[in-house]
Parts: sequence; C-alpha cells; structure tokens
Amino acid sequence: MGKMWAGRTSGKTDKIADDFNSSIRFDSRMYRQDITGSMAHAAMLGSRGIISKEDADTLIDGLQMVLDDIESGALAVDMTCEDIHMFVEQELTNRLGDVGKKLHTARSRNDQVALDIRMYLREEIDTIEALTKDVLEALCDQADTHKASIMPGYTHLQRAQPITFGHHLMAYAMMLLRDLDRLADCRKRMNQSPIGCCALAGTTYDTDREMEAKSLQFDGICLNSLDGVSDRDFCVELMSAISILMMHMSRLSEEIILWSSWEFRFVELSDAYTTGSSIMPQKKNSDMAELIRGKTGRVYGDLMGLLTTLKGLPLAYNKDMQEDKEGVFDAVDTVKMCLQVLAPMIATMTVHTENMKRAAQQGFINATDLADYLVKKGLPFRSAYKISGQLVAKCIQDHTVLEELPLHVYKAYSDLFDEDLYEEIALETCVSKRISQGGTSVPSVEAQIAYVRKELTV
Ligand code: ARG
Repeated sequence: MGKMWAGRTSGKTDKIADDFNSSIRFDSRMYRQDITGSMAHAAMLGSRGIISKEDADTLIDGLQMVLDDIESGALAVDMTCEDIHMFVEQELTNRLGDVGKKLHTARSRNDQVALDIRMYLREEIDTIEALTKDVLEALCDQADTHKASIMPGYTHLQRAQPITFGHHLMAYAMMLLRDLDRLADCRKRMNQSPIGCCALAGTTYDTDREMEAKSLQFDGICLNSLDGVSDRDFCVELMSAISILMMHMSRLSEEIILWSSWEFRFVELSDAYTTGSSIMPQKKNSDMAELIRGKTGRVYGDLMGLLTTLKGLPLAYNKDMQEDKEGVFDAVDTVKMCLQVLAPMIATMTVHTENMKRAAQQGFINATDLADYLVKKGLPFRSAYKISGQLVAKCIQDHTVLEELPLHVYKAYSDLFDEDLYEEIALETCVSKRISQGGTSVPSVEAQIAYVRKELTV
C-alpha cells in the first residue's frame, strides 16, 4: 500500500526508515479515541455543510463498523501502517471508497494526535484515581483497626516518640489524597480540545470547534492553534503527578520492606505478595514492595525523557513529539500496576502489634514525657530535661527501662517524683495525651480516618 501522503514525494521510503518513523506499535492502543474523534469530526463537517449530510452519515457508520470490527477481533490493526490515524483512515477508505477520503477535510494528523492522547489520558486518569482510592481505603481500614496499636515513631530512623500504627498509615493517606488532587487538577487542564487547530494555523473551512469539543466531552477548546498542536505539557503534568504518587508509594514500600525484616517484625505480608528464594529456604521476600520502589525510578525517567525531548522544539509540531507516547504510556501502565498490587498488599498484611509495642518500650521514647512530668510539678524544662537524661543513662547502665525503675531510684534524682509518674510515662498515656489536632491520640486518628473516608465519597 502506497503512502497516503505520497504526492510531493514518491512516498517510496526505505524499509528501515519506515520502521524507524512508524508509531503504530505504541499508538494503536488509541484506536478507540481516534475513531470516536473522527466520528465527531465527520458529524461537524456534515452539520456545517462542509461535506454533505449523507457523506457524514456514511463516514460515521463506516467508522462505527471499523471500531466494532477491531473490538470484536475481526479486524487486526495493520502494523505496517505509519500510525493509528493512518490505519483508521486507510481502512475506512478501503471500505467506503472516495467518501472515506473526505474525512480528513479541515483537520491534520497533528491535531488528531493531540486529541487522541488527551482523550486517552483523561480516561487513564480516571482509572488511576479509582485505583488510588482503593489504596486509600485499605490504608483507612488498617488504620482503623490499629488506631490504638502503639509503635515507635522515628526521626533519623532512631526511636523518637510513641505513635500509633494507625497514625503512621494515615500520614500516607494524606499524601495520597493530595495525589488525587493533583491528578484532578491535571485532568482539568488536559481536557481542552485541540481538534480543529489543524496542522498549525487553523483552517479556511467554516468549522465549529466548540461543537466537536462538546460532543467529545471536553470542557473547552485550545484557544491558540499553534499551542494546541505543539504542547505536551499535559503529558508532563500527568507524569509529574504520577511521579509524586510513585514517590509516596515507594516510601511506604520501603517501610513495609523494613517492617517485614526479622530485625523489625512489625508486619508480615501475605504469601500472595511475597516470593521465596531459590536457594535460601528461610526467605520470604517483599518483592512486590521492592518493585514498587524500583519502578519509581523508571517513572521519573519517563518524566525526564519527555521534558528533555520538548525543551528545544520550535513551534509547531516536530516529529520528536512522537516520542511523547511511549514514556507517558509506560508511566500510566506502571502506576496502575503498582496501585493494583499495593491496595491488597496493605489490606492483607498481618500487623504484629506486640512486636511494635516491645520496640516502643525499649527506646526510652517516653523520656520527653518524663521531663514534662517534672515540669508540671514546677521544675524548669531544662532542669527536668537533664534529670530525665540522667535517668535514661541509669537505665542503660542497669539494663532496664524507665517504666521499671523503682521509685526510690527516681527519688534519688528528684523528690518531685511520686507513684503517679508510672501512669504518666506509660506509653498509652504518652499517646492518649497527644491530643493536638493531627496528633497521634486515638480521637485524632479517628478524625483523620473520617476525613479521608469522606473525601473518598466525593
Ligand atoms: N505519529 C505521529 C505522532 O505520534 C502523528 C502525527 C504526525 N504528524 C506529522 N505531521 N508527521 O506524533
């Protein structure tokens, strides 16, 4: 089959050049968007009298049949075509003859490709949003179960203050909620129709871009024809939002890997989300969590790739822009897989609350609360801090913990100490007293869960 654009040139290209030039391997996934876009275009041409009403109807019916045949498997996409836009038009023309050739009036592949990617990606955003919500639900459910399960909170990966596991999980929920916001924001800017920008300058035909935009569920149209066909900032934005989402998932995955180690034993992943070692029989590896962490780097690469591709391009379309798709599709496919695996991994993990509690008891993480006890009895904070530190040193020396140090030892450091100190430094007390908004107390975690769950319903 000769090239549809043969004319100015013979269209006889080298085989290797054809393979190099072609994008059908990766853009055929947009066949539905391409065909739907063409149907809206045909309808607009007919309604404006640019082609006859009958021709428009013939084109629409023909396009519907091509779509049905691809979807039923009766028609395979011809991988020797340059791209999906050429394939659909070629197939239509094969079926309809000359009428098929009228479809490409008042449009260009440049606006077609910009249209198809936007339509394809906005659907993908909807899917990513739904999958992110699944992760959020799993986080909220585990947080609810463990809103009172005490674990050490860390800074510098050193035990710092007691928190609850629920509180820790809800930190990730807040991050993912912002990710949802970023995706929605990106979708809003993406949802402007470029169709009708044509090659670059608009067209001499009396088209109705608003009509096309509306019938394809866009919020409006790109107001500058050069911009409409030249920018791929919406792909960059989407990949940025996905990169941030991946970063959040990667940090959580890192913690899950750490918590699953024998050194921590805070959680145990379900067998369904782990693998064994081919040589070491005792191993249970957190491969899925590691892959989420690993794939994050690859998604960052997709983002950097497109940013770099676009940075030196003069307006308007340049073939470099064909490089947009593989990266953005890869980022979208990757994040969807990661979200799909993360949600059930969180939902099915076993939490070893006793190990978490034990770790919290061993790190003197109630030393701040001990100092606060003395402050409440009238000692200045710095003096209280010093006594509390000395008592920690004493515990380390005696291989014990603050909770178990006898009262007479306490009294040797300050006669402000009394029996009630034990209640005051109990880990449960330390947690329940952190009542500030957003703190780790149970009512605060409950409020966070309620907030996120409410956001998930809108
Ligand atoms: N396959 C091309 C792409 O993905 C479609 C647009 C081609 N336009 C052109 N003038 N060569 O970017």
